[in-house]
Amino acid sequence: MMKNLNFPQSYAKVHLPSKVAMAVTVKPDGNYNLITLEWFMRTSIDPPMFAISVGHTRYSYECLQDTRYFNLVFPGANQRDILALSGSQSGRDIDKFLAGEVESFPGKLRKLPVLKDAAACFECEVVSQVKSGDHTIFIGEVKHSWMNEDIDMFFYPQKTI
Ligand SMILES: Cc1cc2nc3c(=O)[nH]c(=O)nc-3n(C[C@H](O)[C@H](O)[C@H](O)COP(=O)(O)O)c2cc1C
Repeated sequence: MMKNLNFPQSYAKVHLPSKVAMAVTVKPDGNYNLITLEWFMRTSIDPPMFAISVGHTRYSYECLQDTRYFNLVFPGANQRDILALSGSQSGRDIDKFLAGEVESFPGKLRKLPVLKDAAACFECEVVSQVKSGDHTIFIGEVKHSWMNEDIDMFFYPQKTI
């Protein structure tokens, strides 16, 4: 029977399982940041586009004001630790690439690094944005795509996140 409950109770029913991703952005000092994201989606076939929803309190939100690029990273099955770090610490306080010993190489756009152990990674240029309550949705056009033939994708939940 349908029950008229509050939002958290109703959302809890359908929330999980979910995919999680990370977005790489450029910090104002030129280093790179990572944020764990559950709120993202593909939004266009041609050109391919992804939208990511970033909270206004996140350092990544500040980073996206200056440099209008993000790499959307679909983590590999063994990237649980960096996902947890990137979703619990702010790039204001730590360098997540250093702290997480993240291995990467320059993308084709030469704007942002591609994570070596990701399942897939998409280099995106922000083409528009829309405020959505306490988050902003950044819509990025995919410029270059990478996929790792040897690595499976991480699925959420796993016990440590
Ligand atoms: C599983 C998971 C999913 C998350 N999804 C989002 C999201 O979609 N949007 C968002 O703004 N923050 C999300 N967060 C929170 C950010 O990842 C977290 O606040 C992070 O520390 C922000 O880092 P920053 O300040 O360096 O940008 C999520 C965290 C976790 C653990």
